[in-house]
Order: sequence, then C-alpha cells, then structure tokens
Amino acid sequence: MRQTKIVLLVAVMLAPGSGTVWADPAAGAKVFQVKRCQDCHYTDGPAKEKTIADQLAKKGPELWYAGSKFQKAWLGKWLQDPKPIRALKYNSLTAKNAGDHPKLAGPDAAAVTDFLMSLVSKDVKAGVVKPKMNPKGRLVFTKSMPCSGCHQFPGQKFTGGLNGPSLRDAGERLNPDWIFAYLKDAKTFKPVRQMPVFAGLLNEKDMQAVAEFVSTFK
Ligand code: HEC
Ligand code: HEC
Repeated sequence: MRQTKIVLLVAVMLAPGSGTVWADPAAGAKVFQVKRCQDCHYTDGPAKEKTIADQLAKKGPELWYAGSKFQKAWLGKWLQDPKPIRALKYNSLTAKNAGDHPKLAGPDAAAVTDFLMSLVSKDVKAGVVKPKMNPKGRLVFTKSMPCSGCHQFPGQKFTGGLNGPSLRDAGERLNPDWIFAYLKDAKTFKPVRQMPVFAGLLNEKDMQAVAEFVSTFK
C-alpha cells in the first residue's frame, strides 16, 4: 500500500510537462466555475461552433485545448495581469479591445493554470517544432503570404495588421507544436474560419518553417 503511494508520487513528479509536483486541476476547475469563467469560455472539446451565428454567440475564445496551445509560465502570469491579445474586441472588426479581462489573484491563477494546462488535444503532436530563425519561415510570414497583414509581430518599421491575435510574444505565449498543428488543420481548433486556410498554398515543410519562425517572436 505504502509502496503504491510512493510509486504514484514518483510518477506524478516525472510526468512530462507537469511542472509543479502538486498540480491540482480539480481545484482549478472549481475556481473556474466560481469565478464564472465559463460564462465566456467553454472547456470541453471538440469544437462546438458550427455556424457563423454560433461563433458570434461566443463571448470569448474556446479553451478546450488550452494545455496544448499555451505555455504554462505565460498563462500563469497572464491570468493575474491580462493584457490584450487581440487588438480588436472579440468577434468585432471595428471596436477596440477594452482590455477589461477579469483578473485572478496569485493562488487562483496558479490553480486555474493547472486546470487549463490539463486540457489537451490529441491533434497536437509534441516535440516536433523548435523555435528557429528559419529564413523560409520568415519569407513566408513577411512576404509570400499575408500573415503580417493580419497579425502584429516584432517587425522593424511595419509591425503588422490588427485583424488576428497579436503574435508579438508568440514565442512566450504559444506552444510551437500547436502553431504547426493549427496551420495544418485550423478547422479542428476554430471550425468557423476566421483565418484563410493555407493547406494547398503552403506545404507541410513551409508550415513547419513558419511555425518555427513565429515561435521566435518575443
Ligand atoms: C465576459 C467574458 C469573459 C469572462 C467572464 C472571462 N473571459 Fe477570458 N477571455 C474573454 C475574451 C473576450 C478573451 C480574448 C481577450 C483578448 O484577445 O485580449 C479572453 C481570453 C482568455 C484567454 C486567452 C485565450 C486565447 O485563446 O487567446 C484565457 C486563457 C482566458 N480568457 C481565461 C479566462 C479565465 C480563467 C476566466 C475566469 C477568471 C475568464 N477568462 C473570464 C472573455 C472572458
Ligand atoms: C485575413 C487575416 C489573416 C491572415 C492573412 C492570417 N491570419 Fe492568422 N489568424 C487570423 C485570425 C482572425 C485568427 C484567429 C482569431 C481568434 O481566435 O480570435 C488567427 C489566428 C492565428 C494564430 C493563433 C493565434 C492565437 O493566439 O490564437 C496563429 C499562430 C496564426 N494565426 C498565424 C498565422 C500565419 C503564420 C499566417 C500566414 C501563413 C496567418 N496567420 C495569416 C487572421 C489571419
């Protein structure tokens, strides 16, 4: 009995990506409820939105694959001090993001982070994409494809458009493997397309190259 417990404890400590040994997703799920986060975010996948009306009814981005999408350290900090990610209000093409996202105190943010990091998608293969100043990826992002027309990025003079989420700190915010998975198959994550589909325009190697490049943004 005692031995089983020790074995379990070691298993938790060695679990990849577990970060904190005492991660407690259930406690975080409770905080998520109590703070009414679910009024604007759903956390059970797969994607629920099927039509434009479904998308417009959403008050915030889906979080059912948050553990595959975000970097844990970024998430823990952002929940305590949320800065706008999208320049424009969610689902709007004109109104500015008011920057009024609810804040969580430290311990609540840590618990919710453990909860959200436990929500993963089987469609994101881990360990494929590493941040890299990939020249091909840079060419795709800044020239051959219109990525920078819709996304803020750390550019010199031109710093990008405002339609999509800012990618300025994508290297700290997003999991490189998720970026690649999203470019390959945006529909799994955001079925009501808000972004052009690049399958057919970019091959997988190009997508990986651009994911590597975007992952260097800081
Ligand atoms: C009134 C609606 C609303 C509530 C309540 C709310 N959020 Fe949000 N949330 C949003 C919107 C809108 C965004 C997009 C913000 C941006 O792009 O700057 C967002 C973004 C996020 C993101 C980043 C998601 C992404 O894909 O960019 C996380 C994580 C998040 N919220 C967690 C929470 C948590 C945890 C709570 C509860 C404490 C919460 N939210 C409560 C509306 C809400
Ligand atoms: C026509 C505008 C447009 C173009 C062009 C575009 N995107 Fe997007 N992109 C979007 C929108 C809109 C979203 C998602 C909206 C949301 O979740 O609120 C998005 C989402 C993303 C995300 C996820 C960001 C996040 O925080 O959720 C990444 C990464 C991304 N795009 C990369 C790219 C790359 C790389 C290219 C070029 C190959 C590109 N985009 C081209 C509009 C665009």
